[in-house]
Amino acid sequence: MEQRGLARLRLPGLLALLAALAARTPRVSASGDLNLWPLPVSLKTTPRLFYLSPGNFFFGHSPTSKAGPSCAVLQEAFRRYYDYIFGFYKWHHGHNKIPSEMELQKLEVSVIMDPECDSFPSITSDESYTLLVKGPVATLTANRVWGVLRGLETFSQLIYQDSYGTFTANESNIVDSPRFPHRGILIDTSRHFLPVKTILKTLDAMAFNKFNVLHWHIVDDQSFPYQSISFPELSNKGSYSLSHVYTPNDVRTVIEYARLRGIRVLPEFDSPGHTESWGKGQKDLLTPCYHAREPSGTFGPINPILNSTYSFLSKLFKEISTVFPDEFIHLGGDEVNFNCWESNPAVLNFMMNKGFGKNFKKLQSFYMQMVLDMISTMKKRSIVWQEVYDDEGKLLPGTVVQVWKMGDFYKELENITAAGFPVIISAPWYLDVINYGQDWRQYYSVKPLNFAGTPEQKQLVIGGEACIWGEYVDATNLTPRLWPRASAVGERLWSPQEVTDLDDAYRRLTRHRCRMVRRGIAAQPLFTGYCEHEGRM
Ligand SMILES: *[C@@H]1O[C@H](CO)[C@@H](O)[C@H](O)[C@H]1NC(C)=O
Ligand SMILES: *[C@@H]1O[C@H](CO)[C@@H](O)[C@H](O)[C@H]1NC(C)=O
Ligand SMILES: *[C@@H]1O[C@H](CO)[C@@H](O)[C@H](O)[C@H]1NC(C)=O
Repeated sequence: MEQRGLARLRLPGLLALLAALAARTPRVSASGDLNLWPLPVSLKTTPRLFYLSPGNFFFGHSPTSKAGPSCAVLQEAFRRYYDYIFGFYKWHHGHNKIPSEMELQKLEVSVIMDPECDSFPSITSDESYTLLVKGPVATLTANRVWGVLRGLETFSQLIYQDSYGTFTANESNIVDSPRFPHRGILIDTSRHFLPVKTILKTLDAMAFNKFNVLHWHIVDDQSFPYQSISFPELSNKGSYSLSHVYTPNDVRTVIEYARLRGIRVLPEFDSPGHTESWGKGQKDLLTPCYHAREPSGTFGPINPILNSTYSFLSKLFKEISTVFPDEFIHLGGDEVNFNCWESNPAVLNFMMNKGFGKNFKKLQSFYMQMVLDMISTMKKRSIVWQEVYDDEGKLLPGTVVQVWKMGDFYKELENITAAGFPVIISAPWYLDVINYGQDWRQYYSVKPLNFAGTPEQKQLVIGGEACIWGEYVDATNLTPRLWPRASAVGERLWSPQEVTDLDDAYRRLTRHRCRMVRRGIAAQPLFTGYCEHEGRM
């Protein structure tokens, strides 16, 4: 009896912890080697372990921090990360009694500069942070809340629960900041509608991988789900159905959810091609195609020769520029099919008057120029697909060019940066293209700066995006197709250039994938194996 009493008193405490550790030593201990993803810039760890008890741990603000409990970004993040760390496990032992010198009781957060609690993240947001894990109080220091968010993710990844239910973290010292400021995921809500819930799930997973841009390719040929305030007919007629629409409230929900995770929402309204669905709700917007000198009844790209086109676009983009707070708007400009323009006598006549001859690229440039000028008068910056640069559009300085054609994309990077334009790389990261096997390795092995150019040119590579186009993707398969394959891109864009070891990446990514599964992300397996803790899938 007395023995039992003793056991009850002590065993859930220190002895149990030590026994648990001893029992585990023959296996490769997951607490021994860390499972951080993406790897930080600098990481020092010691064998000294600290123990966390769910009932006796909290996040708090340092007394000298410029941010306090009124900062929603941080309060919400504290709640989330408490759950990620403790919430999804079964607590086998309830509240362990941990000797105080071995316990980690608090993570104290300190923001040094104006925290930007009520701002939206931007391309220049400071995401750097320093994390000191020790007992009884660990510290997380950052210039802005954006760095705190990244540091909280790292902190949560340092905490490991063994099969006995004990939470531990190695003593560590981490200094970290991203390699590239633009780290995006492109989703396509036109080929298939993605419910808001699915988009929010994607934002969660993005935060787990330190992505900071949701590139929302919101409309295209197939459907126009964006509900415009100025032109409600666009989605009334152009969406798949009236229940497959993003209302102004839906859009606000996505933007705020993203903001709380330090993620920008970059809207893309691709034109003049890829606009079939626009034509359903906006009369005379698309070019009528001709066959044998008669209108054929079909329509091509946006009609670039009508004044009404530009007054429509000006009003639409004015709205977009206020609905989406980001400094950038993506204008598309890719894959314009010239056949319809070529068939239309009024278009040919317009080109003759303009002196374009039969050069349809000049007509395309004329159109893009009009739209680019429009955007700059709205105090926004433009992003365009590479064709707009390739086809000799006179781009305003600062226009960002997104490189998507696989061909010789390093040469393309060299050319565009030599001309002085910032670039985003997505050519090697089209995740909608699927292969048998571990294609994450090829995404991981991309060297974004591996082109001939000056240091100034390399500076113009602002980042990259993993793209998951929607032809074969909807809410049923978006998440497993994206994760953990996009995680490979996430580490490439965050971690230092030297982080290239594929074996180490495989080991960490396998566990990172299990961590995502535990947190409710249906990430697919990398290869054979199992996850140690059952998730809530
Ligand atoms: C963490 O601590 C354990 C237990 O002392 C030790 O075996 C392991 O090597 C440490 N891991 C790191 C990465 O320092
Ligand atoms: C279109 O606008 C231009 C420039 O404002 C003007 O010169 C032209 O007459 C207008 N065309 C039509 C058909 O209204
Ligand atoms: C880069 O520019 C050169 C010289 O203008 C041109 O010949 C080449 O085709 C361009 N390459 C790419 C990939 O755009």
